[in-house]
Amino acid sequence: MTKKKSTFVCQNCGNQSAKWLGKCPQCSAWNSFVEEIISNPNSKPVSAGISRTAKKAKSLKDVEPLTQKRLVFTDVELNRVLGGGAIPGSLILFGGEPGIGKSTLMLQVALQNPQLKVLYVSGEESDEQIKTRADRVQPETSDNIFILTETDTNIIKNASENLQPDILIIDSIQTLHSDKLDSAPGTVSQIRECTSELIKFAKETSTAVLLIGHINKDGAIAGPKVLEHMVDTVLQFEGDRNHVYRILRTIKNRFGSASELGVYEMSGNGLRQVTNPSEILITERDENTSGVAIAGTIEGARPLLVEIQSLVSSAVYGTPQRSTTGFDTRRMNMLLAVLEKRCGFRLGAKDVFLNITGGIKIDDTAIDLAVVCSILSSDQDVPLDNQICFAGEIGLSGEIRAVNRIDQRISEAEKLGYKKIIISKYNKFNSKDFNIEIVKCGKIEDVFRLLF
Ligand code: TYD
Ligand code: MG
Repeated sequence: MTKKKSTFVCQNCGNQSAKWLGKCPQCSAWNSFVEEIISNPNSKPVSAGISRTAKKAKSLKDVEPLTQKRLVFTDVELNRVLGGGAIPGSLILFGGEPGIGKSTLMLQVALQNPQLKVLYVSGEESDEQIKTRADRVQPETSDNIFILTETDTNIIKNASENLQPDILIIDSIQTLHSDKLDSAPGTVSQIRECTSELIKFAKETSTAVLLIGHINKDGAIAGPKVLEHMVDTVLQFEGDRNHVYRILRTIKNRFGSASELGVYEMSGNGLRQVTNPSEILITERDENTSGVAIAGTIEGARPLLVEIQSLVSSAVYGTPQRSTTGFDTRRMNMLLAVLEKRCGFRLGAKDVFLNITGGIKIDDTAIDLAVVCSILSSDQDVPLDNQICFAGEIGLSGEIRAVNRIDQRISEAEKLGYKKIIISKYNKFNSKDFNIEIVKCGKIEDVFRLLF
């Protein structure tokens, strides 16, 4: 009898070792090695040698381009992040933290597209739970949605083969298991094996597979990034669970741009598309309050106007507090140091709180100028004109630096009815195109003189 071969696999990063290790040499995780049986060590096909030598390389000119029609959804935001719809036979990984709304969005995809036959496989919820959720999202159901509560990949593949759906939704990859491996569902090896079986199935049957994957605390899908290189498209659902807005971001896309972005709002009956995010991110103001500035930013490929609020007050305790929501605190500290050292503002003994409204996170340095103006406005207690917005990066010597894609930022401000935009004097663009007043400044002092 041949001995069953086994190997030790790190559950965090997928690193393999012949013997058990206390600490993973690759990702430095402790106690992460688990023994896994290699159930089929002689998987090498008999004909491997012959077919390998027989395969001939062909000229790129002779290869036919992909002419498959995309499956277009009614959801404009989803189409956008997928690059115009899903390609049959592709595998789309849909990641996000637990509770963010992945199952809701996928169920909505099934409900809102009666033209497509959808098989929704859930390993997490019962039929009744799915039905309750579906009633909440959209009370009238089409005849084209089928539900299967199952976690065995073979049963799922069989059911899908019989039904022949256009779209197969799997909720979630962490609950699936394959009988080829003995390890528990959710382990790296099971996730990897189930995904590769599904990829094969998708290619063979030309089914578009939407795969939900939970993201752990570190932000990686299924612990390590073991799946990202295998699948065709990776989408990530982000947002603050305490806020209503959710951002769907493309991380990788073999069939389209990887810098697309969709915005949704979580309501009492499902997710609603937000086609004009700038309008909702800026609060309607009748009277001007100090400390508010509007920034023109770019998220993915989309221009977006965001509202920045700050509060500067004298510190009650010895050490001043610095706190931010949606913006990097270290970046704010750097901007405060620039204001202190280069422009002579005394902020060292003040508490500074900064907030980007709507619960979204921005790491675009082009909002620096708006951050600085909002802080100065609060410090001086002088409200800014609510018809002005900003787009510029601040350098360490207090200069305003040029930012990328300024045309897009300016047109977004113009579209939303702003009268004036303050940008860097080093930014080059074609000013004849715009109906908005464009003010160019070189230093923070120039902006300060202009506003206060
Ligand atoms: P869910 O899709 O179950 O999250 P995930 O699959 O990513 O774990 O969504 C969970 C949250 O969404 C839950 O806290 C309730 C909320 N929700 C609404 O606010 N409105 C709705 O219509 C639905 C269906 C859910
Ligand atoms: Mg879920």
